[in-house]
Amino acid sequence: MQRELLKFKQVTSTQDVLRRLIKNKKEIAVFAYRQTKGRGRHKREWFSPAGGLYLSVLIFPERNINSIPLISCLTVIETLKNLNFNNLSIHWPNDIFLNNKKICGILCEKTDSAIICGMGLNINIRKFPARLSNATSLYIETGRIHSIEKILNLCLKHFWNLYDALQNDTFSITQAYQYISGLGEPVEVKLSSRETIRGIIHSVDEDWSLLVRTNDGMIKRIYYGDVIRRV
Ligand code: BTN
Repeated sequence: MQRELLKFKQVTSTQDVLRRLIKNKKEIAVFAYRQTKGRGRHKREWFSPAGGLYLSVLIFPERNINSIPLISCLTVIETLKNLNFNNLSIHWPNDIFLNNKKICGILCEKTDSAIICGMGLNINIRKFPARLSNATSLYIETGRIHSIEKILNLCLKHFWNLYDALQNDTFSITQAYQYISGLGEPVEVKLSSRETIRGIIHSVDEDWSLLVRTNDGMIKRIYYGDVIRRV
């Protein structure tokens, strides 16, 4: 079921707009053509010029909360598949890569009662600052402009369908496994400023937790962390 959508030319961050709407207790989406203070995970800035898609959804899930990042990833994967893109992968927990470059970042912020889930998808951005050397856009990959409106509608359709399935317990993680990258590969996960674990990515569990086999052979379950891939 589709919910209401608010559209803006420019906002600080679509996450901030929704934070102010939590008190209404209504599931809703916010889209902006650009953000002046877009933010990413771990307090990083999110490059948000015109040409990107900046979309956040406000939800009040009653179950399967840990899988919200997963359905956000699948939203973007399904949308890009509809546009005939292949070579898509998910870097746990919620980065989407196209042709081995980052095309989308997802930020899920939790409050007492709600989750605000933001997706930043690089559509018609022609150039990124040098510090974002692993970023790409649909324009860079194809050499042509894509309709932000069309992609927005696809994202909303997929997100609400997946979310409703998750809340009705009819969602299965199996459709995501084929896209998860790095299984069996060495990894470092920064859990906090003081704790980093190293090991091999064993798998991703049903609840979207990452299972890492550490050097002492133990399997460690991780729900949140900054994955630093080792090459
Ligand atoms: C990341 O990769 O660090 C996550 C980036 C999330 C960016 C999106 S854009 C829409 C929403 N508004 C924000 O300020 N951030 C998220």
